[in-house]
Amino acid sequence: METYSRLPITVSGGKGVRLVDTEGREYLDCLGGIASCALGHADDRVADAIARQAASLVQPSNFFRNVPAEQLATRLHESAGGWGRVFLANSGAEANEAAIKLVRKWAGRGRFKVVCAEGSFHGRTLATLAATGQAAKWEGFEPLPAGFTHVTYNDAAAFDAAVDSETAAILVEPVLGEGGVVPATREFLEALRALATDRSVALVFDEVQTGMGRTGNWWAFQAYGVTPDVFTAAKALGNGVPIGAVVARDEIAATFGPGDHGSTFGGNPLAAAAALATFDALEGDHLLDLVPEKSEFLRRQLEDLPYVVEVRGLGLMLAAVLGTNVAGSVCASALEKGLVVNAVAPDAIRFVPPLTITTSELEEAVRILRSAMDEVLER
Ligand SMILES: Cc1ncc(COP(=O)(O)O)c(C=O)c1O
Repeated sequence: METYSRLPITVSGGKGVRLVDTEGREYLDCLGGIASCALGHADDRVADAIARQAASLVQPSNFFRNVPAEQLATRLHESAGGWGRVFLANSGAEANEAAIKLVRKWAGRGRFKVVCAEGSFHGRTLATLAATGQAAKWEGFEPLPAGFTHVTYNDAAAFDAAVDSETAAILVEPVLGEGGVVPATREFLEALRALATDRSVALVFDEVQTGMGRTGNWWAFQAYGVTPDVFTAAKALGNGVPIGAVVARDEIAATFGPGDHGSTFGGNPLAAAAALATFDALEGDHLLDLVPEKSEFLRRQLEDLPYVVEVRGLGLMLAAVLGTNVAGSVCASALEKGLVVNAVAPDAIRFVPPLTITTSELEEAVRILRSAMDEVLER
């Protein structure tokens, strides 16, 4: 079905930060499967783990326990700082859907509302679409599940006013991803933490895009020093292999019992093995430690471009904001010149490259981007 406006390229392979198309042309990929391939394409360690697991056990069903899923749950628990129980899903939307069900069950009868942010993106299932704060994406699909309200991002007073006696949770991304790469302020997340605690609602962070090292910590909440009650992950968790996860603190997680939620494929050993190998490789190569330096380098390079009025974001999730709404044309021109980036807003170009990218590759990316900007903006 025509659900995507696709680029005029068919990709046939990739290695590290490079993609190759069917014509044999190479691209420097600063989008990384939309923040999914933290280790780059076709990482050998993840490929080996998948091959080994595929030859051993792929889908025993959730009637049984399996070792990779339980090891992954432990890994997620440890990465959070030693808290939380885990539900494994297959995507970001599914992880958020599970989190929404979980907080509703935890909050109890009569408390079902979720306060979300304008401009947010949480997925395309009906509930996660309802949570998504972009009205254009709702069109044609109403009525959506009830109970989702949207207020201004980074406005703690607006969230405070929106929480009432029927509220179960507050759900936010630590950095709006699809909404234009807009980071939360520390004060905002701290205020949400205090608000959630005071009013006994759950604080849920959608870390689908910000997670797995992108900000230089395993999770963006650690970069902010604000711990949620629940967070969700997907995208880079399996370095591109479909997987999602919900991590919830014990008391909330305990409200899910047998039969409350499930997934045929969720927690399958194949995807779990890919995620374990991703954790190992990110850790083994100390890639998180290198994020601040690469982020600073890219930020400075982008700030030096003549048409860039602002660079915003966190870690290796940055957007170059232009003075005019030509981001789409600039990205199209960049693609022709061999660079993959995307227009996350009419005036903003997003970089979410593999964390393995080197400073010289970042320099190359900015050089291509500059030439694309020259071409489009001089026209
Ligand atoms: C913050 C956030 N949440 C949820 C999703 C949905 O994830 P998926 O496409 O895996 O369902 C996305 C995807 O872009 C996302 O950026």
